[in-house]
Amino acid sequence: MAAAKAFLQHEPESGNPRHDPWSANLKLDEVGRFSMDRDRKFHNDERMMRYYVKPSAEVPGFALRDGYETWTTPEDEKDHINEMLMWVIHNKEKFQEQPSEDGIVSLNTDFVCKRGLLARVMCTPYENNEELAIAVTKFRGTYFMCEISTVLLSPEEELEELSEEEAKELRQLLYGGYKFEQYVTADKPGGEPDTTKPVNSCEQFYRVLRAGLKSHSLVYCGEVDAYDPEDDNQFVELKTSRIADLLIPRRTNNFKRFKLIRTWAQSVTTGVDKIVYGFRDDNNTICAVRDLQTSQIPAIVQDLDSPWNPRVCFSFLDQFLKFVKSRITIANHKSVYLVTWQPSKKPWNKPYYDPIKDVRCERMGRDSDHAFLPQWFVEWDGW
Ligand code: A3P
Ligand code: MG
Ligand code: MG
Repeated sequence: MAAAKAFLQHEPESGNPRHDPWSANLKLDEVGRFSMDRDRKFHNDERMMRYYVKPSAEVPGFALRDGYETWTTPEDEKDHINEMLMWVIHNKEKFQEQPSEDGIVSLNTDFVCKRGLLARVMCTPYENNEELAIAVTKFRGTYFMCEISTVLLSPEEELEELSEEEAKELRQLLYGGYKFEQYVTADKPGGEPDTTKPVNSCEQFYRVLRAGLKSHSLVYCGEVDAYDPEDDNQFVELKTSRIADLLIPRRTNNFKRFKLIRTWAQSVTTGVDKIVYGFRDDNNTICAVRDLQTSQIPAIVQDLDSPWNPRVCFSFLDQFLKFVKSRITIANHKSVYLVTWQPSKKPWNKPYYDPIKDVRCERMGRDSDHAFLPQWFVEWDGW
Protein backbone atom coordinates (compact mmCIF):
# COMPACT_ATOMS: atom_id res chain seq x y z
CA MET A 1 0.00 0.00 0.00
CA ALA A 2 3.04 2.31 0.00
CA ALA A 3 2.23 3.83 -3.39
CA ALA A 4 -1.40 4.34 -2.42
CA LYS A 5 -0.27 6.15 0.66
CA ALA A 6 2.08 8.41 -1.27
CA PHE A 7 -0.62 9.14 -3.82
CA LEU A 8 -3.28 9.90 -1.25
CA GLN A 9 -1.43 11.59 1.50
CA HIS A 10 0.41 14.46 0.04
CA GLU A 11 0.35 17.13 2.70
CA PRO A 12 0.36 20.71 1.48
CA GLU A 13 3.63 22.34 2.48
CA SER A 14 1.95 25.37 3.87
CA GLY A 15 -1.10 27.53 3.61
CA ASN A 16 -4.53 26.88 2.19
CA PRO A 17 -4.62 23.92 -0.21
CA ARG A 18 -7.35 25.72 -2.12
CA HIS A 19 -4.90 28.41 -3.05
CA ASP A 20 -3.73 27.23 -6.44
CA PRO A 21 -0.71 29.14 -7.69
CA TRP A 22 -1.01 27.45 -11.09
CA SER A 23 -4.55 28.62 -11.75
CA ALA A 24 -3.21 32.19 -11.44
CA ASN A 25 -1.65 31.64 -14.87
CA LEU A 26 -5.10 31.90 -16.37
CA LYS A 27 -6.62 34.79 -14.37
CA LEU A 28 -10.03 33.10 -14.41
CA ASP A 29 -13.33 34.89 -14.11
CA GLU A 30 -16.66 33.09 -14.26
CA VAL A 31 -18.90 35.06 -16.63
CA GLY A 32 -21.82 32.68 -16.97
CA ARG A 33 -23.43 29.29 -16.52
CA PHE A 34 -25.64 27.23 -18.76
CA SER A 35 -27.24 23.82 -18.97
CA MET A 36 -27.97 21.26 -21.64
CA ASP A 37 -31.00 19.11 -20.99
CA ARG A 38 -31.73 15.48 -21.85
CA ASP A 39 -32.88 16.52 -25.33
CA ARG A 40 -29.72 18.61 -25.83
CA LYS A 41 -31.72 21.79 -25.48
CA PHE A 42 -29.79 24.85 -24.29
CA HIS A 43 -30.85 26.72 -21.13
CA ASN A 44 -29.16 29.94 -20.11
CA ASP A 45 -29.12 28.91 -16.44
CA GLU A 46 -27.72 26.37 -13.97
CA ARG A 47 -30.68 23.99 -13.80
CA MET A 48 -28.53 20.94 -14.49
CA MET A 49 -25.99 21.65 -11.76
CA ARG A 50 -25.47 18.56 -9.56
CA TYR A 51 -24.60 18.55 -5.87
CA TYR A 52 -21.88 16.27 -4.56
CA VAL A 53 -22.88 13.63 -2.01
CA LYS A 54 -19.89 12.09 -0.28
CA PRO A 55 -20.25 8.29 -0.09
CA SER A 56 -20.71 7.21 3.51
CA ALA A 57 -19.16 3.74 3.25
CA GLU A 58 -15.41 3.15 3.08
CA VAL A 59 -16.09 0.49 0.40
CA PRO A 60 -19.10 1.95 -1.41
CA GLY A 61 -19.81 -1.05 -3.68
CA PHE A 62 -21.41 1.09 -6.42
CA ALA A 63 -22.24 -1.26 -9.28
CA LEU A 64 -21.35 0.67 -12.42
CA ARG A 65 -23.13 -1.80 -14.70
CA ASP A 66 -26.53 -1.21 -13.15
CA GLY A 67 -28.93 -0.02 -15.82
CA TYR A 68 -26.41 -0.53 -18.61
CA GLU A 69 -28.64 -2.84 -20.62
CA THR A 70 -31.21 -0.11 -21.19
CA TRP A 71 -28.74 2.70 -21.82
CA THR A 72 -29.04 4.40 -25.19
CA THR A 73 -25.94 6.18 -26.47
CA PRO A 74 -26.73 9.71 -27.58
CA GLU A 75 -26.48 10.64 -31.25
CA ASP A 76 -23.11 11.60 -32.66
CA GLU A 77 -22.09 15.10 -31.58
CA LYS A 78 -20.42 16.73 -34.55
CA ASP A 79 -21.69 20.22 -33.67
CA HIS A 80 -19.48 20.37 -30.66
CA ILE A 81 -19.05 24.11 -30.17
CA ASN A 82 -22.71 25.02 -30.73
CA GLU A 83 -23.66 25.28 -27.05
CA MET A 84 -20.85 27.77 -26.55
CA LEU A 85 -22.04 29.85 -29.51
CA MET A 86 -25.56 29.67 -28.16
CA TRP A 87 -24.31 31.11 -24.87
CA VAL A 88 -22.55 33.92 -26.78
CA ILE A 89 -25.75 35.05 -28.45
CA HIS A 90 -27.69 34.84 -25.19
CA ASN A 91 -25.09 36.95 -23.37
CA LYS A 92 -24.04 39.61 -25.81
CA GLU A 93 -24.02 42.26 -23.08
CA LYS A 94 -21.28 40.37 -21.20
CA PHE A 95 -18.79 41.09 -23.94
CA GLN A 96 -18.94 44.83 -23.27
CA GLU A 97 -18.43 45.48 -26.90
CA GLN A 98 -17.37 48.96 -27.87
CA PRO A 99 -18.66 49.65 -31.36
CA SER A 100 -15.69 50.10 -33.63
CA GLU A 101 -15.41 52.89 -36.18
CA ASP A 102 -16.63 50.68 -39.00
CA GLY A 103 -19.61 49.57 -36.92
CA ILE A 104 -18.44 45.97 -36.64
CA VAL A 105 -19.47 44.37 -33.35
CA SER A 106 -16.59 42.66 -31.62
CA LEU A 107 -16.70 40.11 -28.80
CA ASN A 108 -13.56 41.64 -27.29
CA THR A 109 -11.84 38.33 -26.89
CA ASP A 110 -9.07 36.79 -28.94
CA PHE A 111 -10.41 33.24 -28.66
CA VAL A 112 -13.70 31.40 -28.16
CA CYS A 113 -13.60 27.63 -27.66
CA LYS A 114 -14.40 24.84 -25.23
CA ARG A 115 -12.34 23.84 -22.21
CA GLY A 116 -11.51 20.39 -23.56
CA LEU A 117 -9.54 21.93 -26.40
CA LEU A 118 -7.41 24.03 -24.04
CA ALA A 119 -6.76 21.02 -21.81
CA ARG A 120 -5.73 18.94 -24.82
CA VAL A 121 -3.32 21.63 -25.99
CA MET A 122 -1.85 21.98 -22.51
CA CYS A 123 -1.11 18.25 -22.33
CA THR A 124 0.46 18.12 -25.80
CA PRO A 125 4.11 18.45 -24.70
CA TYR A 126 3.63 15.16 -22.82
CA GLU A 127 1.41 13.39 -25.31
CA ASN A 128 2.88 10.45 -27.17
CA ASN A 129 -0.16 8.85 -28.62
CA GLU A 130 -3.05 10.99 -29.81
CA GLU A 131 -2.72 13.57 -32.54
CA LEU A 132 -4.19 17.03 -32.17
CA ALA A 133 -6.48 18.50 -34.82
CA ILE A 134 -8.15 21.84 -34.34
CA ALA A 135 -10.31 23.74 -36.80
CA VAL A 136 -9.96 27.52 -36.54
CA THR A 137 -12.02 30.28 -38.11
CA LYS A 138 -11.41 33.97 -37.56
CA PHE A 139 -14.69 35.80 -37.47
CA ARG A 140 -15.31 39.40 -36.41
CA GLY A 141 -11.86 39.66 -34.91
CA THR A 142 -12.15 36.53 -32.74
CA TYR A 143 -10.57 33.14 -33.34
CA PHE A 144 -13.17 30.41 -32.93
CA MET A 145 -11.52 27.06 -32.33
CA CYS A 146 -13.11 23.63 -32.41
CA GLU A 147 -11.39 20.36 -31.66
CA ILE A 148 -11.76 17.68 -34.30
CA SER A 149 -12.11 14.35 -32.64
CA THR A 150 -9.43 11.87 -33.46
CA VAL A 151 -10.22 9.72 -30.42
CA LEU A 152 -13.09 8.41 -28.44
CA LEU A 153 -15.54 11.28 -28.81
CA SER A 154 -17.90 9.54 -31.13
CA PRO A 155 -18.74 6.15 -29.70
CA GLU A 156 -20.27 5.04 -33.02
CA GLU A 157 -17.13 5.70 -35.07
CA GLU A 158 -14.82 4.18 -32.53
CA LEU A 159 -16.93 1.10 -32.05
CA GLU A 160 -16.90 0.23 -35.75
CA GLU A 161 -13.19 -0.65 -35.61
CA LEU A 162 -13.41 -2.90 -32.58
CA SER A 163 -14.48 -6.47 -32.11
CA GLU A 164 -17.92 -6.94 -30.61
CA GLU A 165 -16.46 -7.93 -27.28
CA GLU A 166 -14.09 -4.92 -27.13
CA ALA A 167 -16.84 -2.56 -28.18
CA LYS A 168 -19.11 -3.81 -25.42
CA GLU A 169 -16.37 -3.42 -22.85
CA LEU A 170 -15.62 0.12 -23.98
CA ARG A 171 -19.26 1.08 -23.98
CA GLN A 172 -19.64 -0.32 -20.48
CA LEU A 173 -16.69 1.77 -19.33
CA LEU A 174 -18.23 4.89 -20.83
CA TYR A 175 -21.49 4.12 -19.14
CA GLY A 176 -19.70 3.44 -15.86
CA GLY A 177 -18.24 6.96 -15.83
CA TYR A 178 -21.73 8.43 -16.01
CA LYS A 179 -23.21 5.92 -13.59
CA PHE A 180 -20.59 6.86 -10.99
CA GLU A 181 -21.69 10.49 -11.33
CA GLN A 182 -25.22 9.37 -10.51
CA TYR A 183 -24.12 7.52 -7.35
CA VAL A 184 -22.42 10.56 -5.85
CA THR A 185 -24.62 13.49 -6.85
CA ALA A 186 -28.08 14.83 -6.07
CA ASP A 187 -30.23 17.37 -7.87
CA LYS A 188 -30.42 19.72 -4.89
CA PRO A 189 -28.23 20.64 -1.92
CA GLY A 190 -28.64 18.09 0.86
CA GLY A 191 -30.50 15.74 -1.52
CA GLU A 192 -30.00 12.01 -2.01
CA PRO A 193 -28.65 10.40 -5.17
CA ASP A 194 -31.40 8.83 -7.24
CA THR A 195 -29.84 5.74 -8.76
CA THR A 196 -33.09 4.38 -10.16
CA LYS A 197 -33.33 6.98 -12.93
CA PRO A 198 -31.98 6.01 -16.35
CA VAL A 199 -28.53 7.52 -16.93
CA ASN A 200 -28.64 10.34 -19.46
CA SER A 201 -25.27 11.69 -20.53
CA CYS A 202 -26.78 14.67 -22.38
CA GLU A 203 -27.73 16.45 -19.17
CA GLN A 204 -24.84 18.77 -18.47
CA PHE A 205 -24.00 21.85 -16.49
CA TYR A 206 -21.37 24.30 -17.77
CA ARG A 207 -19.43 27.23 -16.42
CA VAL A 208 -18.35 29.93 -18.85
CA LEU A 209 -14.99 31.48 -18.09
CA ARG A 210 -13.10 34.48 -19.25
CA ALA A 211 -9.38 33.95 -18.96
CA GLY A 212 -6.20 35.85 -19.65
CA LEU A 213 -3.04 33.94 -20.46
CA LYS A 214 -0.05 36.23 -21.09
CA SER A 215 -1.17 38.43 -24.01
CA HIS A 216 -4.21 36.29 -24.91
CA SER A 217 -7.83 36.72 -23.91
CA LEU A 218 -10.17 33.76 -24.03
CA VAL A 219 -13.82 32.94 -23.40
CA TYR A 220 -14.70 29.26 -23.12
CA CYS A 221 -17.10 26.86 -21.48
CA GLY A 222 -16.31 23.79 -19.44
CA GLU A 223 -18.69 21.08 -18.29
CA VAL A 224 -18.60 20.68 -14.51
CA ASP A 225 -19.72 17.48 -12.81
CA ALA A 226 -20.79 18.79 -9.41
CA TYR A 227 -20.74 21.49 -6.82
CA ASP A 228 -20.08 20.89 -3.12
CA PRO A 229 -21.78 23.48 -0.89
CA GLU A 230 -20.70 21.49 2.16
CA ASP A 231 -17.02 21.69 1.40
CA ASP A 232 -16.18 25.32 0.88
CA ASN A 233 -18.39 25.68 -2.21
CA GLN A 234 -15.93 23.87 -4.39
CA PHE A 235 -16.69 22.67 -7.89
CA VAL A 236 -15.96 18.98 -8.24
CA GLU A 237 -14.63 16.83 -11.08
CA LEU A 238 -15.68 13.18 -10.86
CA LYS A 239 -13.57 10.45 -12.38
CA THR A 240 -13.34 6.71 -12.38
CA SER A 241 -10.21 4.63 -12.64
CA ARG A 242 -9.08 1.08 -11.95
CA ILE A 243 -8.30 0.11 -8.39
CA ALA A 244 -4.89 -1.13 -9.61
CA ASP A 245 -4.03 2.54 -10.26
CA LEU A 246 -4.28 3.08 -6.54
CA LEU A 247 -2.64 -0.13 -5.34
CA ILE A 248 0.10 -1.20 -7.76
CA PRO A 249 3.10 1.17 -7.85
CA ARG A 250 3.80 0.75 -11.57
CA ARG A 251 0.15 1.50 -12.32
CA THR A 252 0.15 4.45 -9.95
CA ASN A 253 3.08 5.89 -11.89
CA ASN A 254 1.24 5.56 -15.19
CA PHE A 255 -1.87 7.00 -13.60
CA LYS A 256 0.08 10.04 -12.41
CA ARG A 257 1.88 10.49 -15.72
CA PHE A 258 -0.98 10.01 -18.15
CA LYS A 259 -4.29 10.35 -16.32
CA LEU A 260 -3.62 12.94 -13.65
CA ILE A 261 -2.17 15.38 -16.16
CA ARG A 262 -5.43 15.35 -18.13
CA THR A 263 -7.60 15.61 -15.08
CA TRP A 264 -5.44 18.44 -13.76
CA ALA A 265 -5.57 20.36 -17.06
CA GLN A 266 -9.33 19.83 -17.30
CA SER A 267 -9.87 21.08 -13.75
CA VAL A 268 -7.39 23.94 -13.53
CA THR A 269 -8.82 25.54 -16.66
CA THR A 270 -12.37 25.40 -15.30
CA GLY A 271 -11.71 26.60 -11.78
CA VAL A 272 -12.58 23.18 -10.37
CA ASP A 273 -10.77 22.80 -7.05
CA LYS A 274 -11.65 19.25 -6.04
CA ILE A 275 -11.38 15.95 -7.88
CA VAL A 276 -13.09 12.84 -6.61
CA TYR A 277 -11.81 9.52 -7.96
CA GLY A 278 -13.92 6.40 -7.75
CA PHE A 279 -11.75 3.30 -8.14
CA ARG A 280 -13.41 0.27 -9.69
CA ASP A 281 -12.56 -3.41 -9.36
CA ASP A 282 -12.66 -6.06 -12.11
CA ASN A 283 -16.37 -6.44 -11.46
CA ASN A 284 -16.91 -2.82 -12.44
CA THR A 285 -17.85 -1.94 -8.87
CA ILE A 286 -16.50 1.09 -7.03
CA CYS A 287 -14.48 -0.18 -4.09
CA ALA A 288 -12.70 3.02 -3.00
CA VAL A 289 -13.28 6.74 -3.35
CA ARG A 290 -10.55 9.32 -2.82
CA ASP A 291 -10.46 13.03 -3.26
CA LEU A 292 -7.68 15.36 -4.26
CA GLN A 293 -7.25 19.09 -4.48
CA THR A 294 -6.45 20.24 -8.00
CA SER A 295 -3.74 22.49 -6.58
CA GLN A 296 -1.96 19.47 -5.07
CA ILE A 297 -1.65 17.45 -8.26
CA PRO A 298 1.58 19.06 -9.53
CA ALA A 299 3.20 18.16 -6.19
CA ILE A 300 1.73 14.64 -6.15
CA VAL A 301 3.39 13.78 -9.47
CA GLN A 302 6.82 15.02 -8.40
CA ASP A 303 8.04 11.56 -7.43
CA LEU A 304 7.81 10.40 -11.06
CA ASP A 305 10.98 9.93 -13.01
CA SER A 306 10.93 13.15 -15.14
CA PRO A 307 7.51 14.37 -14.04
CA TRP A 308 5.30 16.59 -16.17
CA ASN A 309 5.50 20.26 -15.33
CA PRO A 310 2.55 22.70 -15.29
CA ARG A 311 4.85 25.49 -16.43
CA VAL A 312 5.55 23.57 -19.64
CA CYS A 313 1.79 23.08 -20.15
CA PHE A 314 0.94 26.77 -19.79
CA SER A 315 3.91 27.84 -21.84
CA PHE A 316 2.92 25.51 -24.68
CA LEU A 317 -0.64 26.82 -24.61
CA ASP A 318 0.73 30.37 -24.87
CA GLN A 319 2.94 29.39 -27.82
CA PHE A 320 0.10 27.56 -29.49
CA LEU A 321 -2.23 30.58 -29.26
CA LYS A 322 0.56 32.83 -30.57
CA PHE A 323 1.05 30.41 -33.46
CA VAL A 324 -2.66 30.56 -34.34
CA LYS A 325 -2.61 34.37 -34.26
CA SER A 326 0.49 34.57 -36.42
CA ARG A 327 -0.60 32.04 -39.05
CA ILE A 328 -4.25 32.97 -39.40
CA THR A 329 -5.00 36.54 -40.31
CA ILE A 330 -7.91 36.38 -42.75
CA ALA A 331 -11.20 37.03 -40.95
CA ASN A 332 -13.93 35.26 -42.85
CA HIS A 333 -16.40 32.74 -41.52
CA LYS A 334 -15.91 30.66 -44.66
CA SER A 335 -12.15 30.31 -44.13
CA VAL A 336 -11.33 27.28 -42.07
CA TYR A 337 -7.81 26.43 -41.04
CA LEU A 338 -6.70 23.10 -39.69
CA VAL A 339 -4.03 23.27 -37.01
CA THR A 340 -2.45 19.90 -36.30
CA TRP A 341 0.26 18.27 -34.28
CA GLN A 342 1.47 14.66 -34.54
CA PRO A 343 3.05 12.91 -31.59
CA SER A 344 6.63 11.81 -31.85
CA LYS A 345 7.94 8.96 -29.73
CA LYS A 346 7.83 9.55 -25.97
CA PRO A 347 8.24 13.35 -25.93
CA TRP A 348 8.20 13.39 -22.13
CA ASN A 349 11.46 11.52 -22.16
CA LYS A 350 13.13 14.05 -24.45
CA PRO A 351 14.15 17.07 -22.46
CA TYR A 352 14.93 19.11 -25.59
CA TYR A 353 11.75 18.29 -27.44
CA ASP A 354 10.01 21.48 -28.55
CA PRO A 355 6.48 20.49 -29.61
CA ILE A 356 5.58 23.87 -31.15
CA LYS A 357 8.02 23.05 -33.97
CA ASP A 358 5.73 20.19 -34.99
CA VAL A 359 2.53 22.25 -35.14
CA ARG A 360 1.24 22.75 -38.68
CA CYS A 361 -1.42 25.02 -40.10
CA GLU A 362 -3.22 24.37 -43.35
CA ARG A 363 -5.97 26.38 -45.00
CA MET A 364 -8.91 24.18 -45.95
CA GLY A 365 -10.79 24.61 -49.20
CA ARG A 366 -14.21 26.28 -49.24
CA ASP A 367 -17.01 23.94 -48.17
CA SER A 368 -14.55 22.05 -46.01
CA ASP A 369 -16.02 19.31 -43.84
CA HIS A 370 -14.33 21.02 -40.92
CA ALA A 371 -16.35 24.25 -41.17
CA PHE A 372 -18.08 24.53 -37.82
CA LEU A 373 -19.62 28.01 -37.43
CA PRO A 374 -23.32 27.47 -38.09
CA GLN A 375 -25.37 29.83 -40.23
CA TRP A 376 -27.57 30.89 -37.30
CA PHE A 377 -24.46 32.17 -35.59
CA VAL A 378 -22.80 34.07 -38.44
CA GLU A 379 -26.13 35.54 -39.57
CA TRP A 380 -27.35 36.41 -36.10
CA ASP A 381 -29.09 39.79 -36.21
CA GLY A 382 -27.39 40.89 -32.99
CA TRP A 383 -24.06 41.43 -34.75
P1 A3P B 1 -14.61 8.75 -16.49
O1 A3P B 1 -13.61 9.72 -17.05
O2 A3P B 1 -14.75 8.83 -15.06
O3 A3P B 1 -14.40 7.36 -16.97
P2 A3P B 1 -15.73 13.71 -17.46
O4 A3P B 1 -14.92 12.92 -16.48
O5 A3P B 1 -14.92 14.49 -18.41
O6 A3P B 1 -16.74 14.51 -16.71
O7 A3P B 1 -16.56 12.66 -18.34
C1 A3P B 1 -17.49 11.84 -17.71
C2 A3P B 1 -17.53 10.47 -18.34
O8 A3P B 1 -17.83 10.57 -19.72
C3 A3P B 1 -16.26 9.69 -18.33
O9 A3P B 1 -16.08 9.16 -17.08
C4 A3P B 1 -16.51 8.65 -19.40
O10 A3P B 1 -17.29 7.60 -18.92
C5 A3P B 1 -17.33 9.40 -20.41
N1 A3P B 1 -16.65 9.93 -21.57
C6 A3P B 1 -17.24 10.73 -22.45
N2 A3P B 1 -16.40 11.08 -23.42
C7 A3P B 1 -15.23 10.51 -23.18
C8 A3P B 1 -13.95 10.50 -23.82
N3 A3P B 1 -13.69 11.18 -24.92
N4 A3P B 1 -12.97 9.79 -23.27
C9 A3P B 1 -13.19 9.14 -22.16
N5 A3P B 1 -14.36 9.12 -21.51
C10 A3P B 1 -15.38 9.79 -21.99
MG1 MG C 1 -18.00 15.75 -16.73
MG1 MG D 1 -15.90 13.70 -14.72
